[in-house]
This record gives sequence, structure tokens and C-alpha cells, in this order.
Amino acid sequence: MTTAIIGTGGLGSAVARRLASGGETLRLSSADNKSARTLAAQIGPAAVVAVDNRDALQSADGVVLALRFTVLKGVIQQITDSLAGKVVVVPSNPLSIDAHGNVSRVLPEGQSSGEVVGGWLPAGARLAMAFGTMSADLLESASNRSPEPAVQFYATDDDQAGKEVERLIRTAGFEPVKVGGIEQSGRLEVGGDLHDLVVGLAEARSLIGGA
Ligand SMILES: NC(=O)c1ccc[n+]([C@@H]2O[C@H](COP(=O)([O-])OP(=O)(O)OC[C@H]3O[C@@H](n4cnc5c(N)ncnc54)[C@H](OP(=O)(O)O)[C@@H]3O)[C@@H](O)[C@H]2O)c1
Repeated sequence: MTTAIIGTGGLGSAVARRLASGGETLRLSSADNKSARTLAAQIGPAAVVAVDNRDALQSADGVVLALRFTVLKGVIQQITDSLAGKVVVVPSNPLSIDAHGNVSRVLPEGQSSGEVVGGWLPAGARLAMAFGTMSADLLESASNRSPEPAVQFYATDDDQAGKEVERLIRTAGFEPVKVGGIEQSGRLEVGGDLHDLVVGLAEARSLIGGA
């Protein structure tokens, strides 16, 4: 299967490496494609660099938008024609980072990026929020954990997106656990009770039920 990854910074690179190591074929793009080219060279033949964001989606089964929240809306508008029927996986936390590295929340408390991004997508796009609960370093170090795989939580309202994101999570070396619909996605994001956790299946299920 082929997944487009738009955004090949810290998180996009980690997701790409994990997916490629699980056998996924990747189409990569970034703002100027320099980081996408560097990443593709590291990964090898499983990754190709697309001409641009729209081209990344050509022949891709789904897309991971590994972008900062503040650029997501513009990129979605750019590729909107290609998103109908596609599974769109978003790891973005509702944060902005200024030139000095200061991080601030860009949405009111209680409003999740999942809910906002859902409103930016065209009809027919199949949103799943996933891969944003762990830091990029943790995503790499916690993958393929043995004997018990670590869990990646996800949220979606769409059954097909759920199946596809579960496949991607397993390909990346984790056990998928659904927290609920997009209205629950704040639990995965910065400040949410499931953010930054590395847990196995039994603990994950008890955390979900215990909310
Ligand atoms: N980093 C983490 O540990 C982590 C953990 C959990 C969740 N997240 C979430 O993941 C998202 C990405 O974070 P990050 O740390 O990976 O950010 P990042 O390192 O700044 O990477 C952002 C990527 O977006 C690309 N980009 C910017 N504008 C673009 C455009 N118009 N078209 C295509 N690509 C564009 C950049 O391209 P260039 O490379 O060409 O500049 C870069 O590759 C954020 O929303 C964050 O909340 C991050």
C-alpha cells in the first residue's frame, strides 16, 4: 500500500521511517522538498519525493498531514480536490511555535484540533486523528516493543478511516486503540489525558473506559 506524507519534519520523518520499516511505500512532500529528499535518500527505494503536495496524493491510498497546525488549513485548501474519498490522518496538536521556540496554544481550552480540522476538510474526506500523542523520538523508540506492543490511540468518525489508520498503526509497529469519534480527539492532544503515554493494550483499554 502507498501512503502520502506531507510534511517531513520531526514527526513526519519519524512516521515515514516507521511505516517504511513495516513495508509501506511512501510519497513524500514538504515546503521546499529539501527535507523530503533527504528523508527519501535515508529510507531508500520505498520512498519517492513528489513534485508537490498535490502530486504526493497521486496513487496514494491515504495521506498523513504531518504539518504544524498553523499551516494545515492552507495545505488542505491546496489539495482539497484530491481528498474526496481519501483517508486523511492528522497528528497535529493545536500549537504554534514562534521564532524563539516559544510554544503557545492556538485554540481555546476544550476545542481540539481534530474538531477544527474536520471543518476544513471537503465532503467525503475520511479524517482520523493519530500519530500525534507521542513525541517523534518516543514514536521511534516505542515502536515494535516486545513482548507487548505499545498502543497508538486514534479517533475517527469514519469506519473506513478507522480500518486504514489501524493498518498504518500496525505497520508502524504499534497496537491501535480507538478512543472514540473526533469529538474525543482532544484526549489525544497536548493537555489531554492520553497524550504522551506509552502503554500496552490492557492499560489503554482501562484508560479509555476510565474517562
Ligand atoms: N515533533 C514532534 O515530536 C511531534 C509530536 C506529536 C505531534 N506533532 C505534531 O506534528 C505536526 C508536525 O510537527 P513537526 O514537529 O514535525 O513540525 P516540523 O518539524 O516543523 O515539520 C513541519 C513540516 O511541514 C512542512 N511544511 C511546512 N509548510 C508546508 C507546505 N506548505 N507544504 C508542505 N509541507 C510544508 C515543512 O517542510 P520543510 O521541511 O520543507 O520546511 C516540514 O517538513 C505538528 O502539528 C505537531 O503538533 C509533532
